[in-house]
Amino acid sequence: MTLHRFDTPAMRTATSEEPEAPGAPGAFEGPEPGTAPSPVAVPPFAVVPGAQVQQVLRGRERQIVDLVEATYRLHAAGDSVNPPSYFLRFPDRPTARIIALPASIGGRTRVDGVKWISSFPGNVQAGIARASAVLILNDHDTGYPFACLEGSVISASRTAAMAASAAGRLSRHRRRPTRIGFFGTGLIARYVHTYLTATGWSFDHIGVHDLSADSAAGFRAFLRGTATGRITVHTGPEQLIRSSDLVVFATVAARPHVMDPAWFGHNPLVLHVSLRDLAPEVLLASANVVDDVDHCLRADTSPHLTERLTGNRDFLTGTLDDVMAGRVSLPDDRPVVFSPFGLGVLDLAVGKYVYDEVAGAGRLHVVEDFFHELRRHG
Ligand SMILES: NC(=O)c1ccc[n+]([C@@H]2O[C@H](COP(=O)([O-])OP(=O)(O)OC[C@H]3O[C@@H](n4cnc5c(N)ncnc54)[C@H](O)[C@@H]3O)[C@@H](O)[C@H]2O)c1
Repeated sequence: MTLHRFDTPAMRTATSEEPEAPGAPGAFEGPEPGTAPSPVAVPPFAVVPGAQVQQVLRGRERQIVDLVEATYRLHAAGDSVNPPSYFLRFPDRPTARIIALPASIGGRTRVDGVKWISSFPGNVQAGIARASAVLILNDHDTGYPFACLEGSVISASRTAAMAASAAGRLSRHRRRPTRIGFFGTGLIARYVHTYLTATGWSFDHIGVHDLSADSAAGFRAFLRGTATGRITVHTGPEQLIRSSDLVVFATVAARPHVMDPAWFGHNPLVLHVSLRDLAPEVLLASANVVDDVDHCLRADTSPHLTERLTGNRDFLTGTLDDVMAGRVSLPDDRPVVFSPFGLGVLDLAVGKYVYDEVAGAGRLHVVEDFFHELRRHG
């Protein structure tokens, strides 16, 4: 991180020309005896609310798709640290969870951090979104957290960006889909639609299916306000799949409920964003692309169940990065299923982009004196 980004009075540095008064809270007294002076500084701490996040990201869908692709490349090149997500579950609230996604990005971005994201599906009945999140960014040089961003919009945006990227990349050597079907019609489906249309997709037919008639109706109303093409609400899943050549799964299903490979006999492209809808039999009849093999084959995802069933990973064709780099080619006589686990590095990259834009515009909400105990010996 470059220090000039933090050109605020809250900056505290061991080499400052105007050090705070000795003994003042938070003041450095200079290096300890025997240690060399260092340019390391404690960054100010900022809070970036959802309205600022939205303001930065709206209308920048193409840039975010490019950023997500660049981050996948960087991750594939080994210039990231992305340990497994940690799932916090509750015996008294079995459908709920909170997931920690720690990560670190190298390259020019150089930032560490963690997304802490809750999924409480029952929220939807109360009229609020299922997922809520914060994203913490940590300074590369000191480890100090320097920002807390509203994380749900960043998370939904990077998810939709990876779906839009995959739609383009995986259909490059196949017939370009013109009939899309949304299986599960909540917030993520809305973001995926927004990112697809913002990156040049349009559809003659849009199919919609959801267990909840209210969700389907709400999504249909959204589509009517924004989309061209005929909209059909399907009460059954089979018809939705059979009538779509691009199928987007964005349900909250915990285990597979789409079992019959014959429904995919027309070889659609499937964006399996919700990861747990498809039976292993469906994956075994398809070409399978993931974003990261080790991440995706965990946590009872459909690819994980398929690995358990077969005892191997032979059903995987490759990663999105393999496809982008031309290392694998995809068949046009089988369905292609993209199952993206969604990596913490993507949240970090998008979060840092948002932070830099807000900071560059001089609009950071800095919390003065957030870090208060800075002197080791008082
Ligand atoms: N892979 C990733 O990186 C990633 C990132 C973000 C979200 N997600 C996943 O996307 C999914 C959707 O998230 P959301 O915020 O839109 O949720 P949401 O609660 O807003 O919407 C989910 C919808 O799915 C419907 N649904 C549930 N089970 C269904 C079924 N069997 N058949 C048809 N419809 C069904 C619900 O009625 C609801 O309308 C979640 O599973 C979430 O975990 C994945």
